[in-house]
Amino acid sequence: EDLGVVAVGFSGGQGKPGVDAAPTALIESGLLDQLRDELGYNLHGHDTVHSYSDLHPAQDPPHRGMKNPRAVSAVTRRIAEQVYNQAKEGRLVLTLGGDHSVAIGTIAGSAKAIRERLGREIAVIWVDAHADINTPETSGSGNIHGMPVSFLTGLAREDNEEFFGWLKDEHRISVKKLVYIGLRDVDAGEKRILRENGIKAFSMFDIDRHGIGRVMEMALAHIGSDTPIHLSFDVDALDPMWAPSTGTPVRGGLTLREGDYICEVVHQTGSLVAVDLVEVNPRLAPENDIGAHETVRAGLHLPPHSHN
Ligand code: ARG
Ligand code: MN
Ligand code: MN
Ligand code: MN
Repeated sequence: EDLGVVAVGFSGGQGKPGVDAAPTALIESGLLDQLRDELGYNLHGHDTVHSYSDLHPAQDPPHRGMKNPRAVSAVTRRIAEQVYNQAKEGRLVLTLGGDHSVAIGTIAGSAKAIRERLGREIAVIWVDAHADINTPETSGSGNIHGMPVSFLTGLAREDNEEFFGWLKDEHRISVKKLVYIGLRDVDAGEKRILRENGIKAFSMFDIDRHGIGRVMEMALAHIGSDTPIHLSFDVDALDPMWAPSTGTPVRGGLTLREGDYICEVVHQTGSLVAVDLVEVNPRLAPENDIGAHETVRAGLHLPPHSHN
């Protein structure tokens, strides 16, 4: 199978440097070799880690409270083109972030490509401790990595090209085809957005109650069979025991086995079109370098794979 790799060293969606070093850390730990040699993928586009420094303006003051809005908009626009170009060839696309703002680009790109290629709307499975569905107005932090889902669903909108106005209907997804897994740190404004839009979410509470096997059955049933799936995996969905090196860790998360299981089950559907792996920050090692090493190692379990 052909796999397009988009490696994005970008940290502008939040304030902590280091998340831009993740693609290189993952690649140095053998991710591409594993994809090629163990999983048998034919890789495309994997030779470059994009930093997009040319797209960062000298001055980037806040807009509607959003931090680095021009940089994030310009970079995600470029990512959308890259993912689109890979997906339109019929390749599965793996994006290595970067903070979660990159998903504005990855999902926009795959939504557009799948519409054109298959005439279908994609579904999104968002695996995360956080809902990342703040609008600029509900966000307390102004960090755009907490807002991608609101722009992608059209709950947040902008006309100005400089501030995500490049996002058109062809890039957007339906709130009905969005499912969350692993939530445990959702802002008050986000809870209201989830409720008012009837968005399907499986929190850690649901995983404890039903088990990850049943939760995945319900998540896939909600999406409907034979729907193209974009899996956006924030490494902070995993418990900090497995993934301590991330910008916004939250205790009480998924085990490595649960995270691994999610990736296997979604892969098994045969409907997977794209995967994001984001928020690995090798520079944030709470105790010592073991934390960073562990987090990168955890990341190696998450690309699309099976054990058969
Ligand atoms: N809800 C918080 C915010 O809006 C945290 C978001 C964390 N997002 C992430 N992709 N790690 O700032
Ligand atoms: Mn998160
Ligand atoms: Mn996230
Ligand atoms: Mn596995």
